[in-house]
This record gives sequence, C-alpha cells and structure tokens, in this order.
Amino acid sequence: MTTYITTPIYYVNAQPHLGHAYTTIVADTYSRFKRLCGEDVRFQTGTDEHGDKIVEAAERENVAPKEYVDRISTMFRDTWPLLDIVPDNFIRTTDPDHIATVRNILQRVYDNGDIYFDEYTGLYCRGCERFLTEKELVEGNCPDHQVPPKEIAEQNYFFRMSNYQQRLIDHIRGNPDFITPERYRNEVLSFLSEPLEDLCISRPKSRLKWGIELPFDDKFVTYVWFDALINYLTGLGYPEGSDYAAFWPVAEHLVAKDILKPHAIYWPTMLMAMGVPLYRKLHVHGYWNVDDTKMSKSIGNVVRPGLLVEEYGIDTLRYFVLREMSFGLASSFSSEAITGRRNADLANDLGNLYSRTMAMVYKYRGGEVPEPAESGEEDDVLSAAVKAMVPIYREAMAEFRFHQALQAVWDLIGTANKYIVVNEPWTLAKDETKAVRLESVLYNLLECLRIVALVLQPVMPATAAKMMEGLGLDGKSDTDRFLDPGGNWGGLAAGTALKPVEALFPRLDRKKKKESKKEKSTAPKEKVREPALIDEGLISFDTFAQLDLRVAEIVAAEPVKKSEKLLALTVRVPEERVIVAGIAEYYRPSELIGRQVIVVANLKPAKLMGVTSQGMILAAREQVSGKDRLVLSTVSDTVAVGSTVS
Ligand code: MSP
Repeated sequence: MTTYITTPIYYVNAQPHLGHAYTTIVADTYSRFKRLCGEDVRFQTGTDEHGDKIVEAAERENVAPKEYVDRISTMFRDTWPLLDIVPDNFIRTTDPDHIATVRNILQRVYDNGDIYFDEYTGLYCRGCERFLTEKELVEGNCPDHQVPPKEIAEQNYFFRMSNYQQRLIDHIRGNPDFITPERYRNEVLSFLSEPLEDLCISRPKSRLKWGIELPFDDKFVTYVWFDALINYLTGLGYPEGSDYAAFWPVAEHLVAKDILKPHAIYWPTMLMAMGVPLYRKLHVHGYWNVDDTKMSKSIGNVVRPGLLVEEYGIDTLRYFVLREMSFGLASSFSSEAITGRRNADLANDLGNLYSRTMAMVYKYRGGEVPEPAESGEEDDVLSAAVKAMVPIYREAMAEFRFHQALQAVWDLIGTANKYIVVNEPWTLAKDETKAVRLESVLYNLLECLRIVALVLQPVMPATAAKMMEGLGLDGKSDTDRFLDPGGNWGGLAAGTALKPVEALFPRLDRKKKKESKKEKSTAPKEKVREPALIDEGLISFDTFAQLDLRVAEIVAAEPVKKSEKLLALTVRVPEERVIVAGIAEYYRPSELIGRQVIVVANLKPAKLMGVTSQGMILAAREQVSGKDRLVLSTVSDTVAVGSTVS
C-alpha cells in the first residue's frame, strides 16, 4: 500500500507562521501514521516562488527576486525540522526540473488545442493573483483582500477550463470522498452550478518577468497557479519516474479553504486536459485565528512556530493544534488555550498517569515489569477501554479527524487514572496477601501506557519515544504492534527493566523560568526574590537584566487609523513583528524604513487603537523651547538585527 500526501507549496512573500505550520504538522502526522500502518509513504511540501507577490516582496527588501526567494525558501525548509516535521521532498518552483515539467505540460496542452490566445478585459486582484468575476466581489471589493480589483485589458493565453466543467461535476458527484469535509464539496458543486469561465494562464512579460516562460511564446510567462499546481507531479518525476506510477494514483492534497478553488477546479481540469488521472482526495481545513481575530501582519498578531516551540516545546504545539482544531472548521489560538491544554491534558492527565505508574513500579517492584497473574473486573475495564479506543483512533486518524482520535486516547487515559484511584495500589502494597493483585494492577497500567505510547507516535514522536524508553522498550516504532495494539494486550514482557526518564511534561511555570534564567547571572541566589524596586529608588542588576533589549530594523511603517500620534512599525528582530510607537508627530513613515533602532523585545503585547504592539522602541525626549523633541535611539555602527543590547 502507498500514500502520497502533499501540503500547499507556500508563497515566499511571508515567513512561516502558525497556519503554514498547522497544515505541515497535519501532513507529517498523517504520513507518520500511514508509515506505522506499514505503508510506503511520500510526503511533499515546498515553496511557490513566482508571480507578482514575490516580485513585490523582493522589491520591498531591495533585493533581486532570486536572492529573495532563496532566502525565504530556506527559512521554510529550516522551520520544519524544528517541529519534528520530516518531509520526503521539499520542492521549489524555481527548481530546473519543475520548470522543464511545466513547459512540457504547457506545450502538450497547447498542441492539443486546449490553450488559445485572446484579448481580455477583466478585474485583476494582485493579492489573489487572478482575475475575479463581478459576482465574486463584495461591495466592489475582493472578498479576501478588501480592495477593489484593477481593470486590466490585455492579450493573453487562456486554458479551455470550461470544456471540462461537466466531467468535473460528474467526477465530484460520483466520488463522494474526492473533496472532504463535505461542506467544501458542496461549496465546489455550488460554484460549478454556474458556467465556468476559461482560465487566463499567462502574464505578458511587459507586466511580469518573474515566471516560467511559455514554451510557445517568449513574450509571456506562466500564470503562477498553472505553474504551482504542477509541483505535485514534478515531485514524483512525472511523466517517467517509478514514483509517479506508484504514488500518483493515491495522491492526497491537503489545503486550507483559501485555496479550494485552484485545487478543486483549476487542478482537476488541468489534469483532464493533460490526460492524467485525477488525484484521489482533497482534504480542506479551516483557518487559524489568533485570539479570535484574523492573523495578519498589519494587526501584528502573526504567530511564529519557532517562538511557540521555544516557549511550549515541539510536542505540546503538535498536540495542541491537532487536538484543538476540528478539521474543516476554524479555530482560535491563544496562549491561554495552549497553556491550558498543556497543563490539563499533557502534564496532568498523561504526564501524571505516566509518572505515578512508573514511580509505583519502582517503589513496589524495584522498577521491573511485574507478572500479570490475575484478572479481576477492573482489569477488564482497562483492556476493554484499550480495545474500544483502537478502532476509533485508527478510523479517525485515517479520515483526518485528529481531534477525535486524540479524544479517544484521552478517554482511555482518563479511565487509567480512575483505575489507579479505584484500585489504590498503595493500599494493596501494605497487605502481603494482596501482592499478586498489586502486580496485576501495575502490569495493566504499564501495558496501557505502552499502547498509549504506540498510538501517540504520529502526533508526538519525541514524547512517545521517551515513554517507550522508560518502559524498557527500544523506543523505535513497532509496526506490528501499532497495527493491532488492542489485540496485542499483554505485549509487555514481564521482567523487563524500566528505565528512569525525566517527567514528560514539566509544568509550565513562567516565574520559575525567569528565575532559572536569573540564576545563571552572577548575582547570588537569595537576591533573586528581592523586590524589583528597592528603597532608594534604585533597581537591582537582576531587574535590569530582565529587559530583553535588541537591535531591530524597521521594514515598514504606516499611520494607525484614527490616531494622530501613533505609527505601526513592522520591525525585524530578526523575526518580524509590529510595534506601535507614538512618534507620528516627529517622523514621517517613509523616513523610518531601513533604520536600526533599539527595542524592548520582551514587553507584554498591548493593544493600541486596535493594533497589537509587540514591544517598544526606545527614543530620547528633549525639551526645546518648551516643546518636546523625540529622537529614536540607535547603535553607532550597523550591526546584525537581533543583536542584544546590554
Ligand atoms: N502558493 C499558494 C499555494 C500553491 S499550492 C499549489 C499559497 N500559498 S500560501 O503561502 O498563501 O499558503 C496558503 C496555505 O497556508 C493555506 O492553504 C494553508 O495551508 C496555510 N495557511 C495560511 N494561513 C492559514 C491560517 N491562518 N490557518 C490555517 N492555515 C493557513 O496559497
């Protein structure tokens, strides 16, 4: 059996954020799950590097497009290992083999008569990189970018998408799983109930040079979507590679709702025109918001996966996003939500079950897996709970209902915690005549933990490995047992020596974290708890050391709506964030770009006139003839952004 799972290839006009991380964590989890089921898996992700958006972003940074795309693509590639995401292939649309594949396909479709040249006047949205129909507009604006599209008249090449409309409708109707969840299938069918227009698949070089040149007209480059979608074939070596033959028939694409139309309409009709069988499934998920607000650079609430990992750890992040989002629906991220899940589900439910069980086996049986000699009613409760969990888990994982799969595992963890309370091993340990019963109870708990570790492997690979190591197993994945963990009840061999491992999820205690940082400083330990402000109005070195001062570069500046004093500055530290500063009376936005400034990087975010400010910019304020003058702080020579100031 084979599985081919893909994520969208991400535009390199933005750095990786929580949304990109979610889709890629899902693909990684699914590919790990399928691999543990014994399948041969290909998991592909990558970057989409042509088109208007990318040129604009490169211009903003004053660098050539190639230099720019190399930099951001590397950023995406380097982010995934930080989340324990292991793709088999990372594709870039600037790769020479991809460019060759796109040109071959275009030539074939052109030769078959499915591409024609025409004059067109249409409403073009730069954000969407496509022409919009009148019907799509909301009060004259693009519904996604809230700006009116620009009317453009030009000659271009068009793909006869409309020729394939009925075949596509028939395919979707005949294959209920082609687009899931169902709501998105219905959305696509409803869109297809209106006549489909042909797709403009070129851009004149006079308007855009950064793209793949059409093989049949060198005055045009390929429309970015026609180029990008083909990545799914290039990655398999289409048309020749053996991977293409093995994996294309099982292709499953994973996207969010924003790019439903290109994947559910453009791509299948393109495949029809190419004479290539359609992909097997399209899985569509909803959007992550942050604190119930849309994540956006201008609001300044973009969540970076690297920072989340630093704060919460890889497995907490992976667990949180998979548990919290019902696949297909929207979800909201907040630090309270992730901390809550970490403390309740991970530290409390799972972490405590693990540490209590292990501690009891050490205490009462010298750290050795005991013999399960007796089977009482409660044991059946536990093994029955395991047997009930497994099919729910497997079906839910295979159908992208990760939250339900995890819910089933946590129901089992709850049952196991109750099992401890009901059986009171500490009481059994006091009574010699109950020794056999105690062994049985401990064995059942260990066995339950082994199965929990097995099924958590795709979601939390490091935690599962740690649990297995502690249970005296080799920590490597065990396909046979994974396939039938319930039927394998009793798989843990009596006499196995447990290994001491540290707590799975030490509680997140911010105060402690800060203190331990302080402990590294030269100040003696006792001083750590001294009040921040001491009598003479002086602060201690420790208090000063709590400030995280950094050199940052201003990359964008704009006035904050309805405020005369505030500017929203996008700064790189080196990750991008927005800081709102009361400097509008002293600086014009345009004169700020490119300046290095000093920022307080660890200030609690605060909302100012509706914009979240993530830090503070330092400036000197002097009085000149009774008036304030404000001058931004900087360093006396250019230094790398993110350098600390102390
Ligand atoms: N380059 C195109 C895709 C081409 S695929 C042939 C593109 N790129 S993108 O960078 O904009 O990525 C969009 C995808 O990123 C979404 O479909 C989703 O996978 C992920 N997400 C971006 N923001 C997201 C959220 N706020 N929430 C969830 N996922 C989001 O479109």
